[in-house]
Amino acid sequence: MSPVSKDSVLQQFRDRYGYQATGVWSAPGRVNLIGEHTDYNSGLCLPVALEQRTLVAVAIRDDQAVRIHSRQSDATYVGTVGEIGEDWAAYPTAVLWSLAREGMTVGGLDLVIDSSVPVGAGLSSSAALTCSVALAVNDLHGSIFTRNHLAAVCIRAENDGVGAPTGGMDQTIALFAEPSTALLLDCRDGTIEHIPFALRDAGFELMVIDTRVKHSLADGQYGLRRTQCVDAATTLGITSLREATAEQAESLSDPILRARTRHVVTEINRTALAAKLLRTSRIDRIGELFNLSHASLRDDFEVSCEELDLAVTAARLGGAVGARMTGGGFGGSAIALIPAGKSADVTESIRGAFAARTWLPPHFLNVAPGGAATLI
Ligand code: GLA
Repeated sequence: MSPVSKDSVLQQFRDRYGYQATGVWSAPGRVNLIGEHTDYNSGLCLPVALEQRTLVAVAIRDDQAVRIHSRQSDATYVGTVGEIGEDWAAYPTAVLWSLAREGMTVGGLDLVIDSSVPVGAGLSSSAALTCSVALAVNDLHGSIFTRNHLAAVCIRAENDGVGAPTGGMDQTIALFAEPSTALLLDCRDGTIEHIPFALRDAGFELMVIDTRVKHSLADGQYGLRRTQCVDAATTLGITSLREATAEQAESLSDPILRARTRHVVTEINRTALAAKLLRTSRIDRIGELFNLSHASLRDDFEVSCEELDLAVTAARLGGAVGARMTGGGFGGSAIALIPAGKSADVTESIRGAFAARTWLPPHFLNVAPGGAATLI
């Protein structure tokens, strides 16, 4: 397959539909530096956008037909506006459904999707897809919705249209990222702050280790964690775990709710501290917070898995100053903060550890913080 580019997606559009697309929009995947399973607890998270992006070439039709071709799935969906497709097609069609629910008069359209964001790797390929489609359709309908509104449209598309619970971090970073920064998102009031993330200047690299263990947010475990957090907040008589203190966490008699709450409370504190360290250019110190975050996700929130634990341990043995799982968990990716020039040692250590277990070798990618969804 040719590399993902504006020209190649335009060419695909011409080949499929026999005419020229109106434009190409793109949105990034993301990695979360820290602040995991905090977004749906009104907490803090600190994601960065990837340079890997999903591109959509789009043209509006003058009827209600919807044709969507996915280059990754090598399949074409054909339907009408308002219907929600299956599998990968659920995401773009749910966005059209969600935009219509918000009052937009959405007509038919032709669309081609191409993407360099790995799917099922915990790097938010779904938000890259929903946000690129939402921005494209909004722009083609006179830009009637703000980006905040589009984030809400995409969250609803995933939650209610696709049936995939997601907390809002992924859509927010896809629509609000700025290059070379991390985004501190306060999910209590929706405020955002762009914090410079000058990795190279600080002498570091950030590596994503995709374990290639496929996770699914819709498989029940993510939803169960959300329910447990709501139950803990209800037991404590507070509106969300954002309001909980460490003492309140320890006062819970149910050991599961106690551990879940402990994770959320400590993770929000770690995220606030990581933001402070980034603001003062102390990237070198966030590695320790990565390590603590991973232990908390593994032991208290119980969303890690053997492959993620091994990737993290082997990364540290290979010279990373910190490593943790990132995203929803149960597979997907880990991140490692590595002194510049040491990434070959780290990949070798991880490859060796996986080979010793006869597991598939992980995929690696280097993070270069990218920008938000845009017309390209
Ligand atoms: C998934 C969800 C996000 C967030 C993370 C965990 O990526 O889509 O909203 O909850 O899990 O931090």
